[in-house]
Amino acid sequence: MSKNPENSTRRYGRRLVPVLIAATVLLMSAGAPARATRHDPEVVGGDLAASGQFPWIVRISTGCAGTLVAPRVVLTAAHCTANIPVAGLAVTYGTVDLDDTRSARETRVTRAIVAPAFTQVVDGSDWALLQLDRKLDLPVLPVNQAPGYDTGRFTVVGWGATAENEPQQRKLRFVDVPLVPDHTCVSAYRAEGYTYRPDRMLCAGYVSGDLRDACYGDSGGPLIRRDTYGAWRQIGVVSWGIGCARPGLPGVYTQLSTYAHDLGDALDRLR
Ligand code: ARG
Repeated sequence: MSKNPENSTRRYGRRLVPVLIAATVLLMSAGAPARATRHDPEVVGGDLAASGQFPWIVRISTGCAGTLVAPRVVLTAAHCTANIPVAGLAVTYGTVDLDDTRSARETRVTRAIVAPAFTQVVDGSDWALLQLDRKLDLPVLPVNQAPGYDTGRFTVVGWGATAENEPQQRKLRFVDVPLVPDHTCVSAYRAEGYTYRPDRMLCAGYVSGDLRDACYGDSGGPLIRRDTYGAWRQIGVVSWGIGCARPGLPGVYTQLSTYAHDLGDALDRLR
């Protein structure tokens, strides 16, 4: 793997050495491909988030994002926490700026439930719930329960890199990405030697033109859209991709509606 996605997490992660190793192993087992960079250099697009715009977003010490889905429970990607003892996990919340010591707060993780079927990102089930050591006084983000909202335009939010060769960001960013039909990603990723699983994953982004995408360090963060009442709802979790914003290779997200039952059970055990 010529470019280890997790290398750039150092500045904004803590206790990362074991995590880097674990993440590297995971990413390698996920087959994160080595390939010469051939991406549009002017993207991954997006804008700076305003303070309070996405109040339920959190940063996990492994260099991932997550969302507060109950006052004491954070949803993230399984590959952000699998094989990592909960004692080694901390969660930063309440800020868009990870270096702003006045607004940033930190809390510990007391329990974790990783999707029972999770093995590697390309097989799906890339979700985990973390129980915090106390309830946070912040709005929560509702998790999608049924596939009706798995369509249209989404927004992805995170502190990830703004391009493959850029570092992760100190300030939170967001970008709009439309749904890409499953069949497009089945064939795009098959051509790269990966099996995209339409029943477990959502593809979102751009195939050509104005490329925008999630990137390294956005993992575990939310893919959201407005529901019919205008409220944000979480549709997916940033899971994997090949590079960032490469033509023909949209980002891949955990399709949360597929896991509604297991997620609900796990949430009840942690809240
Ligand atoms: N696994 C990556 C991370 O560590 C996220 C990959 C998302 N990639 C993409 N091109 N959408 O943050």
